Amino acid sequence: MTEAVHRRAHADLAERARRVLPGGATHASRTYDPRIYVARSSGSRKWLIDGTELIDYTMGHGALLLGHAHPAVVQAVQDQASRGTHYGAAHPLEVAWAEQIVSLVPSAEKVRFTASGTEAVMLALRVARAATGRDRIVKLWEHFHGWSDAVSPFLDADGRTRTPLGVPEALTALTTVIRTDNPADLEATLARGDVAAVIMEASGAHYGQLPLDPSFIDAARSACSANGTLLVFDEVVTGFRISPGGMQSVLGITPDISVLGKVMAGGLPSGAVAGRADLLELLATTIAHPGTFNANPLSAVAGIATLRLVADGVPQRRAEDYAVSLAAEWTAALASAGIEGTIRRLSSILHIFLGDPRAQARIANAMRAEGVDILNTSAFCSSVHTIADLELSVAAFARAIVVASTPE
Ligand SMILES: Cc1ncc(COP(=O)(O)O)c(C=O)c1O
Repeated sequence: MTEAVHRRAHADLAERARRVLPGGATHASRTYDPRIYVARSSGSRKWLIDGTELIDYTMGHGALLLGHAHPAVVQAVQDQASRGTHYGAAHPLEVAWAEQIVSLVPSAEKVRFTASGTEAVMLALRVARAATGRDRIVKLWEHFHGWSDAVSPFLDADGRTRTPLGVPEALTALTTVIRTDNPADLEATLARGDVAAVIMEASGAHYGQLPLDPSFIDAARSACSANGTLLVFDEVVTGFRISPGGMQSVLGITPDISVLGKVMAGGLPSGAVAGRADLLELLATTIAHPGTFNANPLSAVAGIATLRLVADGVPQRRAEDYAVSLAAEWTAALASAGIEGTIRRLSSILHIFLGDPRAQARIANAMRAEGVDILNTSAFCSSVHTIADLELSVAAFARAIVVASTPE
């Protein structure tokens, strides 16, 4: 096939997509043009419908710490599919899966499964409101917790709280968004005594893109305890990736409730709320929480296989070692090209910052054109990326930063 034919195959699908999918897409971060369509993936690579091979750093939006189609996960899912995908009843897998989470995550005394991270955030906040009898939620500037109403208010450039279109303005009255540069703001807000929960990405916003000073988290922990407010860590991305016990293990700070997702289900859909037994027990008495796909057997077996493999911390260290090398090489490439920019790293996650905002906006497309897929400006490394991947990714980055920095 010629390159034009390759491009045509993607363009045809994009055209069909525009007729049936809003914006021709299924996720806000997959709307870039030229749109590409993936046919299969394995290990650190994915292949497009025209056979083009990409080194992948989107890694299932962070879910695939062990890489694509890990043999243990594939085997578990294949075996389970033939045994049934939904029993409409309790099953042993949900018990084993919860036991693993309790054994790994410091704050997890009990676990309730959901179908996604967004749902787990919704449930964590409902538990916090029920437990405290308070309605107000505090979230932090720029921190992302999925797309539910309660966590969608944000601060505009003038520091005013706004809600996105489609979310009632009345909700802004119940969600306070706090800047993270001054713990005293948080302390003053909690001192009013009406806050059910403070929810945060303990890594800092967008899985470490905007780091959070550990002293702020420490102060939040103390202020929550002092004011009867529950501390919720959203570990949807960081859980099991940063360490077997997540960000809370690394920080040595234990929240009352943790929100989990992504790695916990090995690339299949799931989320979970894990936390203090007395809080989670409200789900047995006063809080209704149905959900057709809670702890579905397919996600459970993928999760069990994954958590078994990541429990000793070896895959996390392998992914982190790789990320350390990649960060060093990408930093050197910026320096030798004389292009302003930095690479920030949280464990196995890299964040690219280019000085020129237009270059920053173009870098993902430029990288894809060089055979490397990143998620917006972030790269999720896995335990199966290889030296060959590293060399190719360095060469690709060296070319892509020049292309992205060149005025059109
Ligand atoms: C920190 C954080 N919380 C919650 C979510 C929402 O999870 P899900 O996409 O499974 O609904 C995400 C998704 O990327 C996330 O990054």
